Amino acid sequence: MTLYFASTTAPVNIATLKYWGKRDKDLNLPTNSSISVTLAQDDLRTLTSVCTGPELTDDKLVLNGKEESLASERTQNCLKDLRQLRKELENSDAKLPKFSEWKLTIVSENNFPTAAGLASSAAGFAALVVAIAKLYQLPQSLSEISKIARKGSGSACRSLFGGYVAWEMGNETDGSDSKAVEVAPMAHWPDMKAAILVVSASKKDTPSTSGMQLTVKTSDLFKERVRDVVPRRFEEMKKSIREKNWPLFAELTMKDSNSFHATCLDTFPPIFYMNDTSKKIIKLCHQINAFYNETVVAYTFDAGPNAVLYYLKENEHKLFAFIYRTFNKVSGWETKFSSDELAQFIKHFDTTVAKDLDFEIDDELCQGVSKVILTQVGPGPQPTDECLIDTATGLPK
Ligand code: DP6
Repeated sequence: MTLYFASTTAPVNIATLKYWGKRDKDLNLPTNSSISVTLAQDDLRTLTSVCTGPELTDDKLVLNGKEESLASERTQNCLKDLRQLRKELENSDAKLPKFSEWKLTIVSENNFPTAAGLASSAAGFAALVVAIAKLYQLPQSLSEISKIARKGSGSACRSLFGGYVAWEMGNETDGSDSKAVEVAPMAHWPDMKAAILVVSASKKDTPSTSGMQLTVKTSDLFKERVRDVVPRRFEEMKKSIREKNWPLFAELTMKDSNSFHATCLDTFPPIFYMNDTSKKIIKLCHQINAFYNETVVAYTFDAGPNAVLYYLKENEHKLFAFIYRTFNKVSGWETKFSSDELAQFIKHFDTTVAKDLDFEIDDELCQGVSKVILTQVGPGPQPTDECLIDTATGLPK
């Protein structure tokens, strides 16, 4: 059997300036530009292997060990665009094998539970598009390829780069200028850390696609956000990243999360993504910043109750004096810290915080969080020798 293979990993990204609202649903064009931080892949990533060959009879997709339909319009749009670019390449060189006419096997695995409600679609579509672009040996730049990932899921376009990434909304009606670009590589500001507090959710949230559509249709606050607030913040946040201005970056991040959730509340009927635990986490973050009289932590929330806390490595002990003290019963700490280091956080709490502040440990808050994931800024998609497909049969391993 003649088969050709490619594999890649792709990261999760968490927006610090939120994408919320589409001006074109089919092309997945946003109503505003957005910015995100790409997270390290040892903790959160999608690995995707693809293969093609003249003898394959169907397009096939296997996600986390389960065969899934490829019928969704979004996935079809991605495959169509990738095959079109490959066809252009084949037209320019008659010796190239006709990949554009052959079927594809796509096998994908996340290294984190999909149920955690983390942005798996962004990493998933980014990995799918990058793996096929690699298989097809497409000469286009990552920004060009990001336009295809965008059609799969808007936020996926930002997962094509590591570090600090902007999705420029663009102005063209055909979406040709709506793409991801690098604001700064990971190495520019490598001390950016993230602690994800996975908040237990009792029911399924409104999917972001339908949620944002309802916001565009019904929220007056949203109009102001898109007209004035986000365009201003987009420039300010890029500058704060380039200048490594942490207090400004942190303030904009928190304000933009709050602004996004305010437009959700202003949607009619309203959409609630944050729950009581999320709100208590916001209060705790402000309490921490007030205690130290400096910005130690910035929170952000997507279309669900999970909190992502950004902080700089140099402030780790200050933050975790509070956060570890509050959430020490939650699992996830031991993967990144030795018991000695964890004991230091408690010591810092006892000697610095408890001395000056009557801080009450909220057991209910701790119970609302099921897991902590400690991670940091990371690189973009990575080539890998790992392959999820059997090279002899073209079937999932
Ligand atoms: C709140 O990218 O999941 O996470 O384009 O419809 O697939 P679709 O939406 P999606 O929306 C993400 C919304 C967000 C903010 C963000 O990531 O910028």
